[in-house]
Amino acid sequence: MKTMPINNGVEVTDIDLMDDDECRELGRLVAHECVVLVRDKVPEKRLHDIHMLWGQPSRAIVYRYVGDRLLKGRHWRSVLASLTHLASAVEHVAGTTGMVRVSFERDEKGRPTGAFTNGKLDWHSDQQGYHDSQRIVGLMSLWGSKNSQTSFLCTAPVYDALDTEDRSMVDELVSVWTWDGGSMSEELIESQKEVVRYNQVPYPNMETRLLGHTVTGRPGIHFPSHSFSHFRGMSREDSLAFRDHLWQKINRPENIYTHDWSDGEMMFMDQNITLHARPTNVTEGDTRTMSRMISYLDKLFPGNGPADHVLYDGRKLDHETFAGMVDEQRRKEFYGEDTRELAGVS
Ligand SMILES: [Fe+2]
Repeated sequence: MKTMPINNGVEVTDIDLMDDDECRELGRLVAHECVVLVRDKVPEKRLHDIHMLWGQPSRAIVYRYVGDRLLKGRHWRSVLASLTHLASAVEHVAGTTGMVRVSFERDEKGRPTGAFTNGKLDWHSDQQGYHDSQRIVGLMSLWGSKNSQTSFLCTAPVYDALDTEDRSMVDELVSVWTWDGGSMSEELIESQKEVVRYNQVPYPNMETRLLGHTVTGRPGIHFPSHSFSHFRGMSREDSLAFRDHLWQKINRPENIYTHDWSDGEMMFMDQNITLHARPTNVTEGDTRTMSRMISYLDKLFPGNGPADHVLYDGRKLDHETFAGMVDEQRRKEFYGEDTRELAGVS
């Protein structure tokens, strides 16, 4: 395995992706470097299995509860249907928990088969309002990727360069999140918004520390992009001002790697201190199709598996308690609307 620098990331060449030991070495590199390009292609099942050498598959907790039918009832049916639909795109590849397609292709009923519709996607990370161990997303371009791009921004060098005052702010602050309706992309259809909401900020006032780390101990910023409400104990105005101040330092060309896709390539990226965006407006009818896998790194770095709690309002909530709160919220939204409709009828 050879490595060479790309802008704020690494490209790997001369790697045998069918060799488990080389793939473990790749995983250790991805953990620390945050953004890694491999201009090679493997079968989708192998992408899944490479991640399984690194750690457990990651599923957003609400997806897990809905998928395992722990959250159920009429009010969860549309979410279950969307998640089942997303999983169905890779159904032909057996045993691929954690894997989806990111695609604009439509099925025979005209529904998009992928997680997002066409259009740009602004800077974000996976499950961004959820405090968790480092997770890695692997994206592999299958077909139709020419002329499209994905941008990657690892914040580790920005954190290293902060002055003492800014650094102590980042070290101390806790971000509070509230779902903003899906402003990350103007193009999301309703079912996709629902899926993104339950991935990113399923409940108002979830918290994450602003300081994040890779499993190798590399510090960076878990940047509060969309659905950021405020920093705990700080006014919204002051919070937004400090966030903007940080963003000025983060959003610079020297920190961003933009990949021009060709089919049959892979990008691996951290989700704790790294943002990604889709700067190209992939148009309707485009066939760009990517395979996407997400996992922890706990097989390579023991003790870094899924968090067993959610940070909320200065407290740690266990998942059962949190799922109960999300259920109550959805029940109110779902049946509350029904009640209003009934009132309108009478
Ligand atoms: Fe994403």
